[in-house]
Amino acid sequence: MFHHESWAYFMTFAHTPVMVDEIVALFAPVPGGLVVDATLGGAGHTTTLLDTYEHLSILGLDQDDEALAAASERMAPYGDRAMARKTRFDGLGDQLDDLGYDEISGFLFDLGVSSHQIDQGDRGFSYRTDGPLDMRMDQSSARTAADVVNTLDVGELANILRAYGDEKHARRIAQAIVAARPLTTTHQLAEIVREATPARDRRRGDPSKRTFQALRIEVNDELNILRGALDMAIDRLCVGGRGAVLAYHSGEDRIVKAAFRDRVDVDDHRSPVPVMTSDYALLWNGSKKPTAEEDTANPRARSARLRGIERVDNAHAGGDAS
Ligand SMILES: C[S@@+](CC[C@H](N)C(=O)[O-])C[C@H]1O[C@@H](n2cnc3c(N)ncnc32)[C@H](O)[C@@H]1O
Repeated sequence: MFHHESWAYFMTFAHTPVMVDEIVALFAPVPGGLVVDATLGGAGHTTTLLDTYEHLSILGLDQDDEALAAASERMAPYGDRAMARKTRFDGLGDQLDDLGYDEISGFLFDLGVSSHQIDQGDRGFSYRTDGPLDMRMDQSSARTAADVVNTLDVGELANILRAYGDEKHARRIAQAIVAARPLTTTHQLAEIVREATPARDRRRGDPSKRTFQALRIEVNDELNILRGALDMAIDRLCVGGRGAVLAYHSGEDRIVKAAFRDRVDVDDHRSPVPVMTSDYALLWNGSKKPTAEEDTANPRARSARLRGIERVDNAHAGGDAS
């Protein structure tokens, strides 16, 4: 029932890149060299950057075989300006070492899942389509969402729903899950969450959305590896190099904000006069949101928050806030 219908889905990898104009503009001033797209997906951002900037080449990383197959096909026309590797993004440093790059001109993290992953019911990411409780981005990894919901105790499950889904009924839902075990399908789980949610909180959107997000983050260990991967990418930026991150929920964005802020300590407190000590500058304060037009055209863009950082020549620190 949950099998891929055909290989044709490789050809129809559907994902509209988010805030693509802003991201293209952000990389305009970077020196020629390699940009790492740490979340390659369908290579939407990557191919746009390759089309726009002939002085850039791109190394795309993804842990999902279907994404890599679709992206590799789209990147083939760019020859050796485009490379794709299968890895979780915390393998970024190893990949760069392997290819002999100490420094990079830029990086992009477009976090979370692609529309393709959500649309493929048999991947188990969607509460709308019935499928097995899988949710693994890397299908060779061991732990599925079924393992999580069928083995953790109520306290552990509730913690995950609270921390990764901001779910205020976390304990009730966790209790309902444990009482209904074993769970095997997404529709079973979605129904249990709906029933465990008080009627007053069932009105705004599907209440199972938060539980699905939380389980997906747990299964793929998404937040625990993010800070380390960002630090690695920031360390590798050359002077004038820039990094961009698109986050889609508060847990992700908090980590991005802290990773960037920790690099832009602009004041040397030992000095009687303000001294720029930082090697990095934020490209703007806070985060940018998509335009109203993009919001309407692409529902997936709605929650996006874009942050940018630049490695600066310390003698001229301060950033150009462009
Ligand atoms: C939002 S999509 C990226 C879409 C892409 N920017 C485009 O324009 O087509 C995120 C992709 O990153 C991958 N991904 C998410 N977390 C990852 C991680 N920790 N390591 C490697 N890939 C990851 C997912 O498998 C998915 O294909």
